[in-house]
Amino acid sequence: MRLLLTTSQGIEDLAKAEVENLLSELGVSFRVEERPLDVEGRVLAEVSEAFYTDEKGRKRELSVSTYLNERSRLLHRVIMEIASERFEGIGEDEPDVALRRIEEFVSELPVERYVKVSEPFAVRSFRKGEHKITSLDISKIVGKAIFERLSRFGTPKVNLDHPTVIFRAELVGEVFFLGVDTTGDSSLHKRPWRVYDHPAHLKASIANALIELAEPDGGPFIDPFCGSGTIPIELALRGYEGRIICLEKYRKHLRGAEMNALAAGVRDRIEFLLGDATRLSEHVESVDFAVSNLPYGLKIGRKSMIPKLYAEFFSELANVLEKRGVFITTEKRAIEGAITENGFQIKHHRLIGHGGLMVHTYVIE
Ligand SMILES: C[S@@+](CC[C@H](N)C(=O)[O-])C[C@H]1O[C@@H](n2cnc3c(N)ncnc32)[C@H](O)[C@@H]1O
Repeated sequence: MRLLLTTSQGIEDLAKAEVENLLSELGVSFRVEERPLDVEGRVLAEVSEAFYTDEKGRKRELSVSTYLNERSRLLHRVIMEIASERFEGIGEDEPDVALRRIEEFVSELPVERYVKVSEPFAVRSFRKGEHKITSLDISKIVGKAIFERLSRFGTPKVNLDHPTVIFRAELVGEVFFLGVDTTGDSSLHKRPWRVYDHPAHLKASIANALIELAEPDGGPFIDPFCGSGTIPIELALRGYEGRIICLEKYRKHLRGAEMNALAAGVRDRIEFLLGDATRLSEHVESVDFAVSNLPYGLKIGRKSMIPKLYAEFFSELANVLEKRGVFITTEKRAIEGAITENGFQIKHHRLIGHGGLMVHTYVIE
């Protein structure tokens, strides 16, 4: 079985490592590849069938897709591959030509193996790159091809609002992919614990990527601009046993973070502090790890305040940070200035896709 796994752009390597860890616990044979066919934000897992023994000693097949949906912290979707193909030059094709190529390809695929004819289905699509067709065009043509193929076996049903089976069609550059989306309509990064919606919250998948980059070892951990608490909550949900601190300047967000932590069942694992990160040493004496998505100019309105805010924060951080910091921001100049002026070293830098932007991420010591 081939599973196409989606995640944020720029964290495919971390998602691959997570999937490899999870699959090795199952005792299956597997091969995991990041960015298959150079498609960003994707990981491909080829997995052998998995079995478990039930309470009556019977051998049963284990659903690897369900297992990954339930256990992964970095993935957005788990899609069972039906087929993928490179369509050379599809970007230049006129709409009718491009759509005919897709239709002919899909109509040859054994989709009847993935849906009972009586089950209502829908096609959701995703398109990225230069094409003369839209994602809506793709949904329609793929839906038509699947419908016609299933009509050979009975009377198929389409239900766009409440489908039992969701086919996912993607055209990324020249690569077309068709699969069955086992995750459903709500991406895994939308956590059920989010009862307070901060306007600039971080995706939970990216929060976990930042935690992986920080490699916290049980020592005190702080998110000094914690907003609605995404990073501390995800850390607590991983079973972190050390001290976890969520510092936030605005009471409304801090209350929201507490509500989220309560919904996540980790309210007691996190210390919530109302305060200013530019006066960090008044709130904590020392921490081993600091991980945060910093306020960006874009999101807080007054961009001119950012260099001063970062300079003051990193000068305070220098007084309390013992081991490692991980920070994500769009403000490259301001953060790099503040990092180096306060005696920190950049150990790692990468770009991560968040909210339609590529955002700079730094590991500092
Ligand atoms: C980008 S948001 C963090 C969002 C958070 N990671 C989440 O997922 O909800 C930055 C947060 O920093 C807070 N903030 C801004 N200036 C601050 C300061 N001086 N000290 C502490 N928090 C501050 C903002 O109120 C905002 O909630």
